[in-house]
Amino acid sequence: MNNQLRDIIFSGIVSVRDRLLQLDNPLRLESGEPSFDTPQHIKEAMAKALVDNHTHYAASAGIKPLREAILKKITEKNKIGYIDGLDKIVVTNGGMHALYCTFQTILNEGDEVIIPQPNWTATGSMIELAGGILVKVKLKPELAYRWDMNEVESKITTKTTAILINTPHNPTGGVMTRDDLKALLEIAEKHNLYIISDEAYEDIFYDQKHI
Ligand SMILES: Cc1ncc(COP(=O)(O)O)c(C=O)c1O
Repeated sequence: MNNQLRDIIFSGIVSVRDRLLQLDNPLRLESGEPSFDTPQHIKEAMAKALVDNHTHYAASAGIKPLREAILKKITEKNKIGYIDGLDKIVVTNGGMHALYCTFQTILNEGDEVIIPQPNWTATGSMIELAGGILVKVKLKPELAYRWDMNEVESKITTKTTAILINTPHNPTGGVMTRDDLKALLEIAEKHNLYIISDEAYEDIFYDQKHI
């Protein structure tokens, strides 16, 4: 068996979910999922794609219309201007697959990645599977579950390769401010680090806008 797998823990939240799914009609508060079903137009498009036989191998980076739609979303909604072509976009089978590919790409054995504590368990596993070491920095309740950036910088060593952020954050709901992001960017530039940004919950906001 692969030695790395031996050290990967089974996610506590997934154990809870597996147990909940054995119950009749449980009140589910365990996963970061919206409370509505997949919208009708998406279901219909998926069903139509099957009927139209879009079931064969496609381009490995994803089909062109999807990558075009992602580029449009990133440029127009997120106002990220530096992603200037489809060659910068790769479609994955969800967020965790994206993080898996990312860490397999940027990490070598023993490289350190700064991550928020607590964090979605699977994210840490993606780093460990790539041979990375987790350097956990606590999100502070007194800072509305944000980082103390001085503490983040104090954890940087010669092995630090990347800083993972997740905003809005699962499970705390903490949100990084524009000043937090600017401070992090300065730290990353100074120490030549990647920032890996997991924004899976960018649309789950109640009283403010995603930055
Ligand atoms: C922080 C975080 N990122 C990403 C995801 C989504 O991962 P996936 O698309 O693989 O389900 C989740 C799911 O719970 C998550 O909690």
